[in-house]
Amino acid sequence: MKAIVLDRTLPQGISIQNVTLGPLGDHDVRIEVAAAALNHRDEWCRQGKYANLKDGVVLGSDGSGIVVEAGKSVDHSWIGKEVIINPALHWGDNQRAQSPDFRILGMPDHGTLAEFIQVPGDRIYSKPDHLSLVEAAALPLAGLTAYRALFYQGELKQGQNVLITGIGGGVAQFALQFALAQKATVYVSSSSQDKLAAATALGAKGGFIYSEPTWVEEAKSLTGGFDLVIDSAMGNTFGNLLDVIKPGGKLVFFGATLGNPSEMNVRKIFWNQLTLKGTTMGSDRDFEEMLDFVSHHKIMPVIDHVFNFDQTITAFDRMRRGAQLGKLVLGIMQ
Ligand SMILES: NC(=O)c1ccc[n+]([C@@H]2O[C@H](COP(=O)([O-])OP(=O)(O)OC[C@H]3O[C@@H](n4cnc5c(N)ncnc54)[C@H](OP(=O)(O)O)[C@@H]3O)[C@@H](O)[C@H]2O)c1
Repeated sequence: MKAIVLDRTLPQGISIQNVTLGPLGDHDVRIEVAAAALNHRDEWCRQGKYANLKDGVVLGSDGSGIVVEAGKSVDHSWIGKEVIINPALHWGDNQRAQSPDFRILGMPDHGTLAEFIQVPGDRIYSKPDHLSLVEAAALPLAGLTAYRALFYQGELKQGQNVLITGIGGGVAQFALQFALAQKATVYVSSSSQDKLAAATALGAKGGFIYSEPTWVEEAKSLTGGFDLVIDSAMGNTFGNLLDVIKPGGKLVFFGATLGNPSEMNVRKIFWNQLTLKGTTMGSDRDFEEMLDFVSHHKIMPVIDHVFNFDQTITAFDRMRRGAQLGKLVLGIMQ
C-alpha cells in the first residue's frame, strides 16, 4: 500500500513509499483510510524534533475510513462501517493522567497517512452522522486535546471570559468552537488579521495580534482579564499570559511551540492565586465525551484545505509556515 513514511535521510524528511502491514492481530481491525489529517506532531517528527523517532514508520494520528477486516476477538459487525480512530493508545484507567504505556498513533506505531491502517478494535468509534469522512478525519487528536483542555482541566463555565491563543492552529480552532458552544465569551490571538476576522465570523468576541507589543494592555482594558487562557505557544509569551489572566484564573497549556520561558514571575502567580495546568490529548472518557459534544452541537471542523496524497509535502510545508487556518486534511480513498 502507499504510505507517507518518515525518512530523515531526505531533505524533506518524508516520502511516499510502498509499505506492507503485518498480519492482523486477534484484537485489531484493518481500516481502508478515507482521509487523514495533519497535526503539528507530524511536522515535529519530520523536523526530527520528537522523541524516539524511527525512520520507516508511517506518520499520522488522525484518520477516518471503512473497516474492511476484523480480528477474531473483535465484533465483526464493525466490518463495512464508517469510523474514526482514537489515536490515544493505552491511556489507562486514571482520568487525571495517562499510564506509562501511553503512546500516540503515528510514531512508533504505523499511523493514518496510508491507504490502510491496523489499530486495536477498541480505538474505533462510529463517525458522527453530521460529518463526512473528510470532515471527521480532522477531529480526533485536536478535538480531544481541545476538549480536555477546556472542560476537564479548564473547568470552563458558561459566561466566562476565555482567551485562545494562536487561533490559526488546529487545536485552537476546536477550542474556539467548543467554548462558543458552552456559551463562554471567547477572545483569540493570532499573527494574522485575516485569521482574527475568520474567528470573529465564527463567533469570537474579539482578537489581538500577539506580535504587537500593545496587545496585553489592549486585552486587559477591553475584557477586564480572562478566567481561562488556553495556549500552546508558551516560550516568552508566558509572562504576557500571566498579565492577562484575572486573579483566581487559570492557564491551561498543551504545547511549547516557542520552547520554555526563560523566566517565571512566581510572585505574580501566587499573589494572583493563578492556577497553571498542563494537559495532553485525553482519556477514552474525554474522547467519548468530545464525540457526544461535537454531535450534540453539530460542530463542523474548520478545514483549511484538503490535499491529495501526492501533495503531502505541500501540506506539511503549509503547516511549517503556520499559513493554515484550521486543519490540513489528505483525501486518500479514491
Ligand atoms: N500535548 C498534546 O497533547 C498536544 C496536542 C496537540 C498539539 N500539541 C502541541 O500544540 C502546538 C499546536 O499544535 P497544533 O497541531 O494545533 O498546531 P498548528 O495547527 O500547526 O498551529 C500552530 C499555531 O501556533 C500559533 N502560534 C505560533 N506562534 C505563536 C505565538 N507566539 N503565540 C501564540 N500562538 C502562536 C500559530 O497561530 P496563528 O496562525 O494564529 O498565528 C499557528 O497557527 C504544537 O506545539 C503541538 O505540538 C500538543
